[in-house]
Amino acid sequence: MSGDIIIAPSILSADFARLGEEVRAIDQAGCDWVHVDVMDGHFVPNISIGPAVVKAIRPHTKKVFDVHLMIAPADPYIEAFAQAGSDIITVHAEAGPHLDRSLQLIRGLGKKAGVSLTPQTPESAIEYVLDRLDLILVMSVNPGFGGQAFIPAMLEKIRRVRAMIGARPIHLEVDGGVTPDNAGACAAAGANALVAGSAVFKGGTVETYKTNISAIRNAAAMARGEAI
Ligand code: DX5
Ligand code: ZN
Repeated sequence: MSGDIIIAPSILSADFARLGEEVRAIDQAGCDWVHVDVMDGHFVPNISIGPAVVKAIRPHTKKVFDVHLMIAPADPYIEAFAQAGSDIITVHAEAGPHLDRSLQLIRGLGKKAGVSLTPQTPESAIEYVLDRLDLILVMSVNPGFGGQAFIPAMLEKIRRVRAMIGARPIHLEVDGGVTPDNAGACAAAGANALVAGSAVFKGGTVETYKTNISAIRNAAAMARGEAI
């Protein structure tokens, strides 16, 4: 349907004092992408990391940097995140009045362009920018913090977005409260990329990260009817 399942651990749940080491640990543990949550204390009620940190961790892995900008405005910072080593740059549909322009800016810098929807935003918000997208991120919690509970109504949104995508080569990512218990439902609804923060980083060692990533991946693969 949409290629292999992609597991993208969110480094928001990592030990920030050992961030390079944590990135190497999830790489060794078999993650596909590294999900970087950028928060500004304005669009969301929390502040996390900026382009300097993305640049500092970039040499620690060759894996795709999936950078989720929870900032408003986003446009003035996109170039800095591109230069810092982002591969995918995702902006929020709610973060500004000119989403189409933001997406053109990202692709103009040679990066993959994503758009994220907070839980209340209907999928119709992105109907006319589909051809500018490489990724759609359905938030399954209200953005701002790790460790929140998955909002079940987002499964229906994932189904609708998957139908909207049709045959386009667009990743459908789900972010927030993803665990081995709901990863199957997310994959069955049509998500092919799963972000998980607390569910991956619990345990604190490469071995536990490996177990945690496998549990999410296996739950998703089983729901798709794939052999594990
Ligand atoms: C929430 C972030 C998520 C979050 C995921 O604002 O975008 O990436 O950190 O963390 P968990 O998996 O703990 O909900
Ligand atoms: Zn995120």
